Parts: sequence; C-alpha cells; structure tokens
Amino acid sequence: MYFGVDYYPEHWPRDEWEAQADLMKEGNFNIVRMGEFAWKIFEKQEGKFDFSLLDDAIEILAKRGIKTILGTPTAAPPKWLNDNYDILQRDKYGRKKEWGSRRECCANSTDYIEKSRIIVDEMAKHYKDNSNVVAWQIDNEFGCHGSTRCYCEQCRREFASWLKEKYGTIENLNAKWGSVFWSLDYDSFDEVILPAYNACEGTFGDLWSHNPGLDLEYHRFSSDSWVKYQKMQIDIIKKYTDAPVTHNLMGHFSDIDYYDLSKDLDFVSWDNYPDNQWGGSDYEYVSMAHEIMRGVKDKNFVVMEEQSGPAGWDVLGRTPKPGQLRLWTYQSIAHGAEGMVYFRFRTALFGMEQYWYGVLDHDGVPRRRFYELQQTGKELQALEQYIVGAKNNYDALLVKSYDNTWGHDIKRHNHKYNYEGHLYSYYKANRRHNVGMAVSRGDYEKYKAVYMPAYNIVEDDEIAKLEKYVENGGVLVLTFRSGTRDTFNRVRSLAVPGVFAKLAGIEVEEFDSLRDTEVAVTGSFEGKARLWCDIINPVTAKTICTYDSEYYKGKAAVTVNSYGKGKVFYVGCDLDDAAMEKFVELVSKEAGIEIINAPTGVEVIKRGDCTILLNHNAEAVDVKGLAEGKALIGGSDFTGKLEAFGVEFVAK
Ligand code: GAL
Repeated sequence: MYFGVDYYPEHWPRDEWEAQADLMKEGNFNIVRMGEFAWKIFEKQEGKFDFSLLDDAIEILAKRGIKTILGTPTAAPPKWLNDNYDILQRDKYGRKKEWGSRRECCANSTDYIEKSRIIVDEMAKHYKDNSNVVAWQIDNEFGCHGSTRCYCEQCRREFASWLKEKYGTIENLNAKWGSVFWSLDYDSFDEVILPAYNACEGTFGDLWSHNPGLDLEYHRFSSDSWVKYQKMQIDIIKKYTDAPVTHNLMGHFSDIDYYDLSKDLDFVSWDNYPDNQWGGSDYEYVSMAHEIMRGVKDKNFVVMEEQSGPAGWDVLGRTPKPGQLRLWTYQSIAHGAEGMVYFRFRTALFGMEQYWYGVLDHDGVPRRRFYELQQTGKELQALEQYIVGAKNNYDALLVKSYDNTWGHDIKRHNHKYNYEGHLYSYYKANRRHNVGMAVSRGDYEKYKAVYMPAYNIVEDDEIAKLEKYVENGGVLVLTFRSGTRDTFNRVRSLAVPGVFAKLAGIEVEEFDSLRDTEVAVTGSFEGKARLWCDIINPVTAKTICTYDSEYYKGKAAVTVNSYGKGKVFYVGCDLDDAAMEKFVELVSKEAGIEIINAPTGVEVIKRGDCTILLNHNAEAVDVKGLAEGKALIGGSDFTGKLEAFGVEFVAK
C-alpha cells in the first residue's frame, strides 16, 4: 500500500535532496506526491518546457525504492499566463480574483483550458515511459478557496449553451423556472443572467435572492464545468499511459458534485486535516468525511494529504498529541483508506504555508512525529491484507445528495438549519452506536436501513425505487423538509411530505420554524426540537412521539408506517443528540441492525470477521467484551485494553 509524503523538491536546495530521500526511506515511506504547484518551473516561459528538476527528484527517490504520484500543476498558473491571457475568475460583484495565490482560474476560460491542455500533454508525453511514476493527480483540490463558481462573461456564454442543451427552448426554461414571477421571462438563452449580485439581498450575507431554478442550475453548471475541465486532463494522460489517475477531493466539501467528479477517476483521494487553524473536528465528523469519500465511488480511497503536524496559515491549531497521528491514520484506514500520504514532509521556510507543519519541522530534524509515523508505517506493512481491497460490513446507508445540499443552501428554511449538519446528526448517532453506515446513494437493496434526511429535491424515478425498497422489507427514515421539490427546484403542488406522503402514511398539517423556542418531544423517547416542528396527521402511520408544548402539544412529531413488508419512519423535527441516539436504537431494532455500545470516544468498526477498535480518548480504556481473538498489531490475544489514542485490529 502507498505510505508516503507530499514533497516539494523545488522548495529545497538540490544538495539536500539525497539526505531528505534517505530520511524518507528511514521513515518507511514508499511514495511521494510531487509537482502540483510547479507550473512556473516546468514552463518558465510560454512554450519552453523543462522537467529536469522533477526528473532528478524522481530518480533520487526511486533509488531508495520510493515511487512518485505526479500532480499536474494547473492550480498555480505562472505570471506570464496571467499577464498574456484572460484566465481569472470574477466574483459575484464582477471583481477579478487577482493573481498572486492559487486557484484563481476560471474553468471555462478558453485560454486557461488551452494552456492547461498543453502543459499536461507535455508532462504526460515526458513521463509516459517512466516506471517510477505510478499514478497521476489532476490539479489540486478543485473548488478550494471558494473557487467553484465564477461570474465572468465566458461562464455566462457557456451557461447559455449548457441551458440550451438541457431545456431545448427558452419557453420551456421559462415555464420550468416560473420566470413569470417578477417579470423575469427570457426571450433567448443568450439573455439568461448569472446569479450574481442584485438588488435583492438575501438573509445570509453572501447570498442574493434569485430565481431558485436559475440558482440550482448554476450550481450544477459550475460543478459540471470542473468535471469537464478535469476530464480534459484525464483524456490527455490516458492517451500516453495506463497509470491510474486521481484528484484530491475535500471530504465534506459540497460545491462540486463528487459523484460526477469521481466518475472519471480511477480512484478517489482526499485531504484530511482533523485539527487546524479553523478548529478541531469531532471524530465522528472525520469518520463521516472518510465515508463520503468512500461512498462517491463505493470504493476504497487514498488519503493524499493527511495532517502530520500543527496546522495553520497565520494562527495554528492544536499540536497532534502523542499517538494521535497514528490514530488518525488508523481511523482513515478503518473507514476505507488503503493508502496514506502525509502533508508535507518538511515544513516550508517561506510562502503562505510557513506554519502548516509537516512530518519534519523547519530544521528538518526528525522528532516525535517522524518516529510515530515510522512505527505506523511498519505496522501497516503487516496488516495489508486487512486493508487493501477490504470492505466494512455496512448495514445502513445515509443518502448524500449534492442537489439537495444546493437546494437547501438556496432556501435554508430556518436560520439555524443546515442540511449538511442535519445529515451529520444522523451519522453521528449511528456512529455513536457503532452501526456500519455507508454515506452514498442508490443501491438501497444492499442495506437494512436507509436514512434519507430532508431529501427535498426528488427525481421522479427515485420515488418508485424507494417504494420498491420498502415494499420488499427495507426500513426507510424520512425527515422534515422532504419530498416537496422537483428537479427544477419548483415546489410540487402537494401537501408535505409531497411525494413521500404515501410511503410515510402521513400528512403534515402545519409546521413551525422555531426561533428561540425549545419544543419538548415525548413518547418512545424524550427530546427537544430547536429548529423545526412538522405538525403531523397520521393517516396510516402510528405515532411514536408527540410534542409536549406549544399549541400543537399532543400532536404527532415522529411516526412509523408499515408499507409492504417494510417500515417508514418520519421524523418531523430536529432532535438533540441524546434523543437522536434513542431514535437510532429504535430504527436499528426494527431493521435487525446490531448496535455496539462502547465506552465514549471508542469507535468499533466491523470488517469481515475482523474488528477494528479506535480509542479517541487521551486516556486508556477498558473495552473487554467488544472483541475477542488475536490482536493483529499487538501480536498476541487481545487483552481488552486500549492505550490512550490506542488502536487494534482483532481477528477471530
Ligand atoms: C490543502 C492543499 C495543500 C495545502 C494544505 C495546507 O488544502 O491541497 O496544497 O495548501 O491544504 O493548507
């Protein structure tokens, strides 16, 4: 398996490379990723190519048995490209995103596309027969720094043809979007605007109110633009080599449809920073990010940048504690990683990321973090058969939909509501119970329970698929704000929960978008709603919980309906963490899903007949009874103890 580092030879004097490569070998690293920001080195002047720096670095590393993943350098355009061509994005106010950092280019700029095509072609041609280049990474983190959507003239023109292709006639577009509202009908596709700054300020600072059809389509178009830009690069590389191609995605990031983006990739990779300048993440949140990354292709992935030190651009996050880098590595692996690459080998002395610490500090002297990863690398070699190609036992599915993320973002329903957060509350409760939960879409039949929170934009063919799943015995969970919109982001002329009314066996009579009120929920479990209350009239469904305050006291809050051989739960409100855990217990029982109660902060993951245990606590814990058998890392029978930040693979 890949166990490596992100490496920037261009940041270090040539006479230090050999010693750095020796140290990598000593650290048990067998792969580096290089090149992804070095366009100016490869093409100092337009049309003058020079890959000698990279050739030398690849060679020096290869002599130590370290292979290379090559990044195409298109995230960092050189100055000549900026000065001679029109490549820059425009923001919502029409301002240029000036050159001087990275990721400022527009995916629809014909100049940027053409110059990217040329550099990628030159690189692929140059390295096609180099057996030390074992994989390619396209560009770097599409969408990073808020760069998914651009508002330039080229985007406007491309958007017009994208719409024409989709809608056929402008009359059709007007009808689907309801452009009649506020006199917004268009006479031709060329008239269609981009949803930029306008007179109508929205509730959330950076948003302006536009026609919801326009807004949603612009999200889709912008996402498609990067998918297409990436495909252009992949096609070039594939002309020359069979080496697998990836891109480094960003976990929870939702501006680009990662199902679409990963379709053209041989494998997904992603960048994981659990604790940095912008805060520390709960372990459940990190686990979910890994599962999203596994779910987009339903396939194991590589972590292409794993945090390896204290991290920040100008202020710093916490320093990973002894054992934490190892734990984060095993957490990644437990949720589907089969390759680990750490960002970055040695901390930069200059540039924007001077304080984004790597495996080595500025002075390049190996210390605690280096030795911890060295040990981890050694352990992993012995575990390979439980990692590469291995798959967890998944009982439940959490459906993740980019259309719905965008739809909920455009109309956020409640000040405190956030769709991604709502999905996370369901993931977290399942993780706390150690339910094997995939985060993906489709293929409902593979799971005993399917959670589909706030699934609001529903494609027509999805409805029949879900009905079939439940009819055949599946357990489905629906929540408030579900089923009421179509693919054009129009509200359906139906009572809530719209297309799911029959499945859920209810009708929502009224709802209450809460402000500073807590509404008590009582019945099969107790809890509090703080965002939203659907006031439910059960039709064929049974009531599980009712509200215990407000004018709807006594009315149904949570219901369950029998449908064919299956069951449909409907949760009309948000729930606090404790109530959510109780609810997940109910669903799991109904679906025949095993719940594993472990000490707080301990994750249990089942993989075939192997149990993976992760202790996220800074203290040792007793986990007797959770797994019995051979401790594959410890080497003897499992003692039932996990050290602080300890991990174990226990095989029967
Ligand atoms: C990632 C990026 C890296 C580096 C790192 C630390 O988002 O891919 O190039 O910038 O963050 O900031």
